Amino acid sequence: MSLRLGDIAPNFKAHTSMGDIDFYEYLGDGWGILFSHPADYTPVCTTELGRTAALQEQFHQRNTKVLALSVDGLDRHAGWVNDINETQHVRVDFPIIADPERSVSNLYDMIHPNASENFTVRSLFIIGPDKKVKLMITYPASTGRNFHEVLRVLDSLQLTANYSVATPADWKYGEDVIVVPAVSTADAIKKFPKGVKVIKPYLRYTPQPNLPE
Ligand code: BEZ
Repeated sequence: MSLRLGDIAPNFKAHTSMGDIDFYEYLGDGWGILFSHPADYTPVCTTELGRTAALQEQFHQRNTKVLALSVDGLDRHAGWVNDINETQHVRVDFPIIADPERSVSNLYDMIHPNASENFTVRSLFIIGPDKKVKLMITYPASTGRNFHEVLRVLDSLQLTANYSVATPADWKYGEDVIVVPAVSTADAIKKFPKGVKVIKPYLRYTPQPNLPE
């Protein structure tokens, strides 16, 4: 059965471009991103892994480790990483799982047979420190993902894990957030000393609570 939000992300052991790993040990107590791409030496995937490498400091600041996957083998990963570094002007310093047996791909339902029998689609999972699945997105092979959007979702997930807020459409770090419906307006005024703007009884905004005034 496929994974759903809130499920425990299953652990696995894998061979990667940076040695053998145990997924949970690799994640430690932080956040994780596991993402698949269809194949090595393909153009869109090359740009995706390049962009991920370029944003490594951003992921690091969010206490988040990234882990890529393709069904190609370690020998192909090694040569392809050189190409990514050369063409995208980066240094790929996160592991890429080699999954020719499709064991991790099947565990995470990354092969969608009606899209491709043999290759993974562009699946991406964000996993919280509690090892639960917080986000799943799936893109087709023909569309590269927006890794700034992935960072934006991470910011939202990390904020909403700690405060009784939700983030509105197109929210970006630093913008006002929404008070969750479970909190009454009277309680919201106590909880959020920076102020609560009531547009409707169910639509209330407050400044992002984890920022200094
Ligand atoms: C790519 O990564 O460029 C790609 C992979 C499979 C199909 C189409 C594009």
